[in-house]
Amino acid sequence: MRSVAVIGLGYVGLPLALSFAESGLNVSGIDIDPEKIRKLRRGESYIERFGGETLRRLVREGRFQATTDYAVIAGADAVCLCLPTPLDRHRAPDLSFVLNTAEAFLPHLRPGQLISLESTTYPGTTADVLRPLLEKSGLKVGSDLFLGFSPEREDPGNKSFSIKTTPKIIGADDDRSLARMKALYERIIPEIVVVSSSKTAEAVKLTENIFRSVNVALVNELKVVFDRMGIDVWEVIEAAKTKPFGYMPFYPGPGLGGHCIPIDPFYLTWKAREFGISTKFIELAGEINNYMPDYVVEKLSRALDLHAGKGLNGAKILIVGIAYKKNVGDTRESPALAIYDKVANRGADVAYHDPLVPSVPGLRRYPDITGQGSIALTKEVLEGIDAAIICTDHDGVDYELIRRHCPLIVDTRNVFPGSTRSGNIVPA
Ligand SMILES: NC(=O)c1ccc[n+]([C@@H]2O[C@H](COP(=O)([O-])OP(=O)(O)OC[C@H]3O[C@@H](n4cnc5c(N)ncnc54)[C@H](O)[C@@H]3O)[C@@H](O)[C@H]2O)c1
Repeated sequence: MRSVAVIGLGYVGLPLALSFAESGLNVSGIDIDPEKIRKLRRGESYIERFGGETLRRLVREGRFQATTDYAVIAGADAVCLCLPTPLDRHRAPDLSFVLNTAEAFLPHLRPGQLISLESTTYPGTTADVLRPLLEKSGLKVGSDLFLGFSPEREDPGNKSFSIKTTPKIIGADDDRSLARMKALYERIIPEIVVVSSSKTAEAVKLTENIFRSVNVALVNELKVVFDRMGIDVWEVIEAAKTKPFGYMPFYPGPGLGGHCIPIDPFYLTWKAREFGISTKFIELAGEINNYMPDYVVEKLSRALDLHAGKGLNGAKILIVGIAYKKNVGDTRESPALAIYDKVANRGADVAYHDPLVPSVPGLRRYPDITGQGSIALTKEVLEGIDAAIICTDHDGVDYELIRRHCPLIVDTRNVFPGSTRSGNIVPA
């Protein structure tokens, strides 16, 4: 194996492409977005945690070449698909990015190539949807062409694990495809976990994300109950996690965010319907997690009544942290956006501060928030607002400044734990 093409240079594809290039393979990175390609050609990254000197070196040495042209696929021994798999308006899987792209590169396929799907999807996509599409090229999977599924398992913002140190799941439906999948990923990841089929590999990824969604929902439910009982859920979790077995801590928050956890579980819900099964845990978890922004807004509204004797209408509200997760600049599905929207719809004057999101990128669901810029966190700003909602607890934010100068703080992340909580701080 000498060369790889990675299609879709986003959060998954870009680091994967760079890892392959670092392992000595010649890598073509393909993306439909010409601006991303222009940047990469200049050695500039658009994802804060990937790139830097490594990217510049790989571009300089010609090991990593970025293009919008699918024709380069003809020269690749393996092709990894890292394309978006969102839900459509009816919360059904939208595989159009994967399928339209595969259709577009079909003319460039040649015998002997391996295709690896990395996009999260429902069990059966690789074998029952992608395979027949690829075989329209006239090449047969298992003899002319090889095919497998390998999910990306990145935890954005987690500095303890990288692509290399996270075991890689691979699954394929014939021995020759599996052997090629193994040979490809062994180049960059020491621990490969082989499962018996592509649909099992697809199910592994969904299981991991459903596990997270359900456990976060559980702890969010406990937060609401314990709060009503005057019990601090964060203190409960700290104590519960001292049990050395049978308990794993999950933390409450303002709702689920990111490209994966709020979306992926519903891929299984959709597929399960075909088998006459309803996925009750997944639906319930979705319901509880989706309710969290409303819960936070209600806590804010009540706190304004009690502390300031005023309603949300006309109040000046600052959202601290608009990204969906600590120390990442990604706003996709961020619950902070839902909170922003709900508070603004109640007549409040809303602004945000987020050191990792200088301005809010284009959002179909929230056109009024698109393009808003992060405001500076100063004593004057904080003294001029009615309340701040801490939605995301990035490092490097001056929380002490917020505590000193902000009249009311709604804290969804336990930035101010129980023992340090003064009268103007409301957990939510
Ligand atoms: N972000 C994560 O942490 C993460 C983790 C695990 C799995 N996943 C899964 O990986 C897949 C990709 O996610 P992502 O976060 O990298 O998405 P992303 O939106 O960051 O990246 C997708 C890229 O594909 C490009 N693209 C779209 N259509 C294209 C086309 N026709 N041809 C070439 N490029 C095209 C986009 O311009 C974009 O750069 C999804 O299925 C996601 O669920 C993501």
